[in-house]
Amino acid sequence: MAMPQLPQLGFDEASETMNDPKIIVALDFPDYQQALDFSRKTSPEQCRLKVGKELFTSAGPALVEKLIDRGFDVFLDLKYHDIPNTVNKAASAAAKLGVWMLNVHAMGGTAMMQAAREGIEVVARRPYLIAVTVLTSMSQDDLTALGVNMPLPRLVERLARQAVDSGLDGVVCSAQEARGLRASLGQSALLVTPGIRPEWAAADDQHRIVTPAQALADGASYLVVGRPITRHQDPAEALGMIAESIS
Ligand code: C5P
Repeated sequence: MAMPQLPQLGFDEASETMNDPKIIVALDFPDYQQALDFSRKTSPEQCRLKVGKELFTSAGPALVEKLIDRGFDVFLDLKYHDIPNTVNKAASAAAKLGVWMLNVHAMGGTAMMQAAREGIEVVARRPYLIAVTVLTSMSQDDLTALGVNMPLPRLVERLARQAVDSGLDGVVCSAQEARGLRASLGQSALLVTPGIRPEWAAADDQHRIVTPAQALADGASYLVVGRPITRHQDPAEALGMIAESIS
């Protein structure tokens, strides 16, 4: 269904209006053409799109601009982690591209996160800025090997608190962390959760999966969903089924 045109609002205000799709499709495609072809099977009313390291390295800013031209909100998932000055400039460049959301590693520290937050102020409609806390691929043993002895859940909570205190809008987290983080960070923090699988979809290589409805019930703000949609024979139908399950 076509939605009415939104007036010129900041992203946060626009999210409060009726067209605020909760699904962010992970565009895990190797090149420009495949990503663009996929975008033609969906619409900005149904979903937002996530461009990560593989696709951005291959297709670059031109693809991001093209998707934005087609009306999509783009989450630029490049997980910046560098010295504050470099991250400040990278965040500014992403904001000038017109992305809707971008992210940094909270492990870069508060000075780096604050520099990123300042960097996105270069545009009138600043994007959302969120942090990755501890990669979900890391175990307690991996942390110990790095010399970090804090229990992993406590480290996630600590980094998430530092991100919000540094002016960030929220965090990427596993849906299984959402309930705890919602309680500790409060209602205004954004929680963006991958590892989402509808009942009808294969788990693929995800181990700790949560359904779309459960993730939202646990406090997720936006759901990152890749293969259940991108590998479905009819992506629009898959999106429709997920949207219905959370409506
Ligand atoms: O296809 P699938 O739904 O598993 O895709 C999930 C997306 O979310 C991928 O782009 C993946 O890289 C990303 N992601 C994740 N787990 C994290 C962080 C990001 O699956 N902890």
